[in-house]
Amino acid sequence: MAGDLSPNQVLKALAQSNGPILTAEAFPSMSFVKVKSALDTLKSRDMIIYSQIEREEVVLSPEGEGIAENGSHEAKVFEAVRASIDGLKLDDLPDIVGPVSAGVGKNTAMKARWIKMDGGRLKASTDTITDITREQLQAIQKTKSNPDARLVSGLKKRKLVTTQRVISFKVDKGTNFATELVKEETDLTADMIQSGAWKTAKLKPYNFKAMGAPNTSGALHPLNKVRHEFRQIFFEMGFEEMPTNRYVETGFWNFDALFIPQQHPARDIQDTFYISDPPSAGRPRADPSPQSSHSTNSPPEEAQQQKRLDYEAYWRNVVEVHQKGKYDSIGYRYPFNESESLRLVLRTHTTAVSTYMLHKLALDARPARYFSIDRVFRNESVDATHLAEFHQIEGVTADYGLTLGGLMGFMEVFFGKMGIHRLRFKPAYNPYTEPSLEIFGYHEGLGKWVEIGNSGMFRPEMLEPMGLPKDMRVYGWGLSLERPTMIKYAVQNIRELLGHKVDLGFVESNAAVRLEKD
Ligand code: PHE
Repeated sequence: MAGDLSPNQVLKALAQSNGPILTAEAFPSMSFVKVKSALDTLKSRDMIIYSQIEREEVVLSPEGEGIAENGSHEAKVFEAVRASIDGLKLDDLPDIVGPVSAGVGKNTAMKARWIKMDGGRLKASTDTITDITREQLQAIQKTKSNPDARLVSGLKKRKLVTTQRVISFKVDKGTNFATELVKEETDLTADMIQSGAWKTAKLKPYNFKAMGAPNTSGALHPLNKVRHEFRQIFFEMGFEEMPTNRYVETGFWNFDALFIPQQHPARDIQDTFYISDPPSAGRPRADPSPQSSHSTNSPPEEAQQQKRLDYEAYWRNVVEVHQKGKYDSIGYRYPFNESESLRLVLRTHTTAVSTYMLHKLALDARPARYFSIDRVFRNESVDATHLAEFHQIEGVTADYGLTLGGLMGFMEVFFGKMGIHRLRFKPAYNPYTEPSLEIFGYHEGLGKWVEIGNSGMFRPEMLEPMGLPKDMRVYGWGLSLERPTMIKYAVQNIRELLGHKVDLGFVESNAAVRLEKD
């Protein structure tokens, strides 16, 4: 029987039978796989139950088939001898019954005393014989079995039969048995909703255990691969990853909290993307939910209740430090504009997130190391090395007694892990760090010094409004993910790395390195 076994065929066979059916009998020539597939479909709907049965089948060999049809060798010899009028000459036998039957058949027929040698000729000793072998084989042909194990093993030795293990199924009606399988819908479609067909449609349950189709295609983007390397370095050095899953920040978190004055050119429309709808956020509020402490020996519950992020107080501190100075700083001394602080921007650096994390750290001030690698946005004119968005790698370390020398030493270890062993530092300016350093690394491959990052010790004007202890120092640094990736993969134009101009072939040819779960 060619084709598949339809579930309906199984239902029909069951409906017609009084009890369970055996698939080997009901569908003898159907393959195991096809039978099982039809049964599983029905079983998943509880229309049937089934169990697997293994049994041994005895099947005739081609020689055995020949005997079942035409008789055994010995019977053929007997017939030939009996048919001769005056006996057969031994030499004539092969011509009449064939050489094989003549050889095997003559001896067996003589042992059975069906024929004898008489005066140099073969003569019949009886008129009728029973061809037992043929009968046995014919019986086996019908049932594919014989309870007499010795007989079967004898026939096997004579190469007239072989045995094989056959898996079959015993199938019985299930609780949802019906004579027909109703097609189950795999999708709820717009048509079904419009026509009302969904009311009566039978929906196929989801199979949450499905493994899905194996997927051997696809490749990691070079940026992802380099990101993975950086993450490993950070984790190795005991850094925690910061939650960077929000691109939109207020001017407060992106600039003000970092002691970036509101007139700073970075806040220009030429440099920063402002959100137009909605253009601004509401005033900061006190956090309604108490913060759980990070430390393992968390404080008693009442103490924890009091530990809330107080955004209002923080905001007031920031306004004050800008406007008239605080914490031994004279501030910028300009009228702070609240609405500027509430304007929504696409974050221009992930330092906005670091700031948020440091403010949170102040609840339970202790040494901490944070990092992030995520997207930032700058309203820049796009060229071969600049895009309006890129990925920033950022690290922040908070501890008591940190020094600038410590920052430089740390940079050497950090970049050393990336294979950059010669560093140079150049004084720089950031409104939120003092001192600030630009970091240059000697690139062996390119044979020149390249700028790889920006860093510095965060100013007290930024840290103290958060409530961090006066003697706690925090340093940080940032670099782009694109720069090292472009150098590593020898990409000249950043637009070939990010955006619609990326050549899939390029990504693929760099796909050789497969990363473990990121
Ligand atoms: N925010 C800086 C930048 O965007 C990087 C930086 C982070 C500098 C932390 C110092 C401290 O380049």
